Order: sequence, then structure tokens, then C-alpha cells
Amino acid sequence: MSLNPPTQYRTDENLRARQRIWEHQQPPFDLVSWVLEIAGLPLGTAARVLDVGCGNGSYLRQLRIRGHVVIGCDLSKGMLAAAAAVAAPDTELVNADVARLPFVEAAFDIVLAPHMLYHVSNRQAAASEMRRVLRPGGRCVVVTNGKDHMRSLRSLVESAVQLATPGWKMLDPSTAAFSLENGAGQLRTAFQHVTCVPASDAAPVVLTDASVAADYVASTEDLYQPETARPWSEVVEDVRQSVQRAIDDSGSFVVRGRSGAFICE
Ligand SMILES: C[S@@+](CC[C@H](N)C(=O)[O-])C[C@H]1O[C@@H](n2cnc3c(N)ncnc32)[C@H](O)[C@@H]1O
Repeated sequence: MSLNPPTQYRTDENLRARQRIWEHQQPPFDLVSWVLEIAGLPLGTAARVLDVGCGNGSYLRQLRIRGHVVIGCDLSKGMLAAAAAVAAPDTELVNADVARLPFVEAAFDIVLAPHMLYHVSNRQAAASEMRRVLRPGGRCVVVTNGKDHMRSLRSLVESAVQLATPGWKMLDPSTAAFSLENGAGQLRTAFQHVTCVPASDAAPVVLTDASVAADYVASTEDLYQPETARPWSEVVEDVRQSVQRAIDDSGSFVVRGRSGAFICE
């Protein structure tokens, strides 16, 4: 399976379906603010910030509110179009690959790579590029997930798929490639100091609407359909019914994320 199938991020539709699930964390947890805090970005400073793999602009929006000088960069033009709708009109948006950044050395005080490095096959080149464009003494913050990320939802998907594909596991190759468990060593190829900070204050997602989980699973069709025998729409429907049963029985279905960040200097 490709780490970044071209269909997945042609537009921000799949990403939006997955972002919606995090709106149900109880109590709410603002991952973007958490990341900007550990990046050491005080409000109102004119720090120059590069957001690589900026997606549909979740970070750009907050960086704009905080008054930083921001450039967003993404491989997908569809994502950049979505980002343009939320970023400040003067935000520079660049269509580029993190492994070949079109910026001069030491151009940024902070480089952010949130939930994107796991889609990149040449991560050594990517880390080296992020280091190159960072000023000496600057900080790069790379966000990713741990291996138990969303275990309860993945178990429901596995049960539905295994009816026709025995033994199948929902092994996300992206998380396997670059996770909280194995990312530090990869980043140390370019950065001298790498510290892993789990987002341990992040609350669980508590769902009372089964369609939120179903939409999340539907958004991964291009990743998993090729290796599973059942039509993905049937898998999605099974998951919807299982989540609904949990809601009927105990009032909610709970999913825990395992996200965190590497601070690289
Ligand atoms: C899971 S989304 C994360 C978006 C955003 N950073 C966020 O956290 O909301 C991953 C993004 O990385 C982008 N991406 C994947 N490979 C890339 C690469 N080699 N260079 C730049 N962007 C890339 C995708 O197009 C997508 O927008």
C-alpha cells in the first residue's frame, strides 16, 4: 500500500471526515494550540513559521490569529485550495514536496510538520530539508500517532472485514512507517536533539452519533479496499451498526487517540 495514494488528498473531503471525529473529545482538546505551545510560539510575535503538509489549513488559521508570519506548503493543490479559504489573504501557499523545499537556508524560526511525515517515503530527505530551512536555534515540531491510535474503532473495522478476509488487520502503513514509537531515530538523522512529547492530556472521543465513526471509516476506502474482499460500503455499514449498538447499550462509543509530537532542534 502506498504511504500517500493520490486519491486520498485530492481534495480535503477525506481529511474533513476524519477531523470531525476529534470535535467529540470530552473534554475538548485543542491539538493545534497544544502543538503551537510546545513549538514555543508566544502570542503576537512575528515569528516566521513554515507549516509543511498544511492540509486544509487548521494550523494556518490559528497561526494567523496569533499574528505570526506564515507560509503553508502541501503536495496537493486541492488541499491548498481548501487552505486558502481559511488562511489570511496574504498567507503564502506553496505547492511543494517536503523532501525538496523551495526555500533558502535558515528561512524560518519554526517548522511544523503535523500528521504528514508518515505519508512521505523519503523521510530522511524530508528531515534534512526541514533542518536546512530552519534557522540555527530554531525548532521543528513533528506530530504523529502511536501504534494504539483509535484501537477500538480499528477493532470494529477488523471484525467487519474478517467476515470475508480472515485474519485481516487494519495495519496503517503510514503509522507503521513513522510513529511515536519509531520516529525519534528517523529525525535524529537530521537533528541533534529530538524529544518525544505525548499529548497525554488529550481526552477520549465520546460518540453519540454513529455516523461520525462511519464517515471516518468511509474516508479510508482507497487505503484498505484493495486488500479486503467485502465492498468497503458494507464494512462502513457494519461499523455504523456496531457503534450504534454500543450507543444504545451504554450511551456512547469511546475512541482513544494516541498522538504526540517530536521537538527537534
Ligand atoms: C493528514 S493530512 C494533515 C494536514 C494538516 N497538517 C493537519 O494536521 O491538519 C496530511 C497532508 O500532508 C500532505 N502531504 C503528503 N505528502 C506530502 C509531501 N511529500 N510534501 C508535502 N505535503 C505532503 C497531504 O497532501 C495532506 O494535506
